[in-house]
Amino acid sequence: MSIVIAVDGTAASGKGTLAKKLAAHFGFAHLDSGALYRLTALAVVTAGGDPRDEADAVRGARAIDLSMAGDPAIRTDRIGQAASQVAAIPAVRAALLDFQRDFLAHPPGGSAGAVMDGRDIGTVICPGATAKLYVDARPELRAERRRKELAGIGINRDFAGLLAELNARDAADKARPISPLLRAPDAVLLDTTDLDIDAAFAAALALVSPKVEGALKDRHRG
Ligand code: C5P
Repeated sequence: MSIVIAVDGTAASGKGTLAKKLAAHFGFAHLDSGALYRLTALAVVTAGGDPRDEADAVRGARAIDLSMAGDPAIRTDRIGQAASQVAAIPAVRAALLDFQRDFLAHPPGGSAGAVMDGRDIGTVICPGATAKLYVDARPELRAERRRKELAGIGINRDFAGLLAELNARDAADKARPISPLLRAPDAVLLDTTDLDIDAAFAAALALVSPKVEGALKDRHRG
């Protein structure tokens, strides 16, 4: 079994940045599972389909090209909303499940472990993860962080609109019947409201390190 760090949480909570930094720290592979839903949404929208339509959305999920995960086109809030719509369709989640489980079971590059961030990693994709974090922050702060992040890639959005979209997306993600966003009973809550990136990373590392270091030692012994 590879070592798995599951990082779930609300939109723009900083979970992606933390997951990336944790992966770099431990030399593990990283997958942003949200990119799979965003790529699916982009494929649907580009083909002129409806992200709420099961056939369109499943076609999109089967057509995704992971090498496009760095494309700024998937980072817009329109695509974020469409991603949330395709993500509520069970057949889409089923189509993306094996890829995520394979990634965790056999992390690319022969890494000893993997870090995956999303909404259902610790609850559905890998309930037996070595360590689980649930990342959250005050919505106003998350909206402001997202505004700056988008401005950095040339997309200028107003704060109020972003805040409304973020709250609507979180509400939809928490309320959907399949794989809703929720904190696994064994996930540790990390509230990043009063923490800058370095402080949030230090806190995340302190929370997961005992379990991850223990698992690494067990592997070396075994
Ligand atoms: O994390 P990100 O904001 O990129 O995710 C976009 C959308 O994809 C989320 O709002 C959510 O609906 C969906 N998602 C999901 N399960 C995951 C990751 C993302 O349903 N594991």
